Amino acid sequence: MIAAAVAATAAEIAIPLLTKSVIDGAIAHHDRALLIPLGLAAIGLGAATAALNLVRRWVQGNAVANMEKTIRDDLYGHLQRLHASFHDDWQSGQLLSRATTDLSSIRRFAGFGIVFLLISVLTFVAVTGLLIRLNWWLGLITGCMFVPVLMFCTRFERRYKVLSRRVQDQEGDLATLIEEAATGVRVLKALGRGRESAAQHDAQAVEVCKTQVAKASLLGSFWSVLDLIPNAAIGLIVVLGAIAVTHHALTLGGLVAFITLALQLVWPIEALGYIIASGEEAATAAQRVLEIFDTEPEIKSGHTERALAKRGPGGWDLPPGRGVTGGSSPGGKQGRLWFDHVSFSYPKSHQPVLRDIDLQLEPGETVVLAGATGAGKTTLLQLVPRLADVTGGAILLDGTDIRDLPLPWLRAAVGCAFEEATLFSASVRENVLFGAPDASDDEIEAALTAAQARFAFRLPWGLDTRIGEQGMALSGGQRQRVALARAILARPAVLILDDPLSALDVHTEEKVTRALGTILAGTTALVVAHRPSTMALADRVALLDGGVIAATGDHRELLATQPGYAALMMMEEVSA
Ligand SMILES: Nc1ncnc2c1ncn2[C@@H]1O[C@H](COP(=O)(O)OP(=O)(O)O)[C@@H](O)[C@H]1O
Ligand SMILES: [Mg+2]
Repeated sequence: MIAAAVAATAAEIAIPLLTKSVIDGAIAHHDRALLIPLGLAAIGLGAATAALNLVRRWVQGNAVANMEKTIRDDLYGHLQRLHASFHDDWQSGQLLSRATTDLSSIRRFAGFGIVFLLISVLTFVAVTGLLIRLNWWLGLITGCMFVPVLMFCTRFERRYKVLSRRVQDQEGDLATLIEEAATGVRVLKALGRGRESAAQHDAQAVEVCKTQVAKASLLGSFWSVLDLIPNAAIGLIVVLGAIAVTHHALTLGGLVAFITLALQLVWPIEALGYIIASGEEAATAAQRVLEIFDTEPEIKSGHTERALAKRGPGGWDLPPGRGVTGGSSPGGKQGRLWFDHVSFSYPKSHQPVLRDIDLQLEPGETVVLAGATGAGKTTLLQLVPRLADVTGGAILLDGTDIRDLPLPWLRAAVGCAFEEATLFSASVRENVLFGAPDASDDEIEAALTAAQARFAFRLPWGLDTRIGEQGMALSGGQRQRVALARAILARPAVLILDDPLSALDVHTEEKVTRALGTILAGTTALVVAHRPSTMALADRVALLDGGVIAATGDHRELLATQPGYAALMMMEEVSA
């Protein structure tokens, strides 16, 4: 690519030299025979320039598109590795604008800016050299016009950098507003907040617009000076060149060649404006993208060797996911989950949310976690698949600290379904298969049946109906049941269910709970639930109150002995 660019520039510069030969040789000596080969040579050089530029653009387009794809893949991969709480600190619009607009700025500069810069510098050096050879003092004067241009460029660059960072950040904020307006459109409409939200959007758009205008006017004045300097210099060259010709310091052909060559300097200098502007934008964009890359994942995978060595022979060879608990589980005793004096506080608050949680779940046992809103149930559950790490104590899975287990292994062993059922833009089948890509149709049917989600077969295209965003709209309860089927299908050793049945009516919830009891007989389950009917089906109930386990026991026992629990159940009865 660089060879093609250099060759094309050389061919272009050679053309004015041919002109000089035509004027000083063929025309001055009335040598018509010389005109034809010189003319053909000029055509040849023109064609070579075009062909070489074509090659350069082709190679460059390919390389740059691939570069952008690689960065994009790396960025996506990094976002997947980052801990879940990363998204508490980052607005989604800022992430979106970095993954789209910023990557495009980098591509634009890498695609054109870098090559323009190279060609401009080369052209400038070669042309100035030739000019000095044609006439040294006139050549030096021409070369000197670059000095004010350079000084001017550095001043411009400093100011442009600030503005381009501001625009990119403001565009990220705007993207966040638009994203929230799109996802929260129902709430906005229902609360009648359309006007306010439009005003908020407008205010942000005005900010972006102001910065854009400031940027454009800075760029405009910069460009006009870049236009002025070389053109003024050409005017000066014409005058000084004419004087040189009258003093026989330069031939007439030499003057024509000089002016044509000097004109070739105009374009690289003007291009400098574009290069600096797009270079600044790319640098800012790269900085913004690097801010994501520089964030280290807080949740690090454990060391396979250490964790698995502890197990000894006949221990865990495979994640205790599908196929292991389904039949020939080695030893058959997997899924003992122990919260060993666990405490947890969120990074930005000093008040611990969980304190000294000591809870053991035997393999295959179903424990229901009960507690008022804000008691810390969701927080406790998210510690098991390591969406966050404990800040004190440890969680042990079959005797091994989960922080010592390889993350993919742990996440295959622990299945989750949350109250907020997230479905992806794909068919029902694909959504359910997410947890177990190799499951058979019979297994899918069994999972859907257990989750009371057989309605999926009656959708317009059955299991191939697209759901999620831009798909068939499902009710909250339907979404929860599809998400539950997804968790069941993976046949994890430990199942974590955070109020996944909240949107179901009492009877459906009871049916699901019963079905779960049979299909997941060997699975250890920790379930957040509220309704007394569900509690009654659990092996054990743990009452979480103010971040501590206030009591454990069976439903009746707790009803009789724990006034707090009885009150909680009473409220549920009333609201049901
Ligand atoms: N991402 C978070 N950052 C800081 N505090 C949080 C976060 N999520 C929840 N909390 C706090 O932790 C406490 C327990 O919340 P949660 O576990 O969601 O309760 P529950 O599921 O029992 O209703 C609440 O006081 C809540 O304000
Ligand atoms: Mg919760």
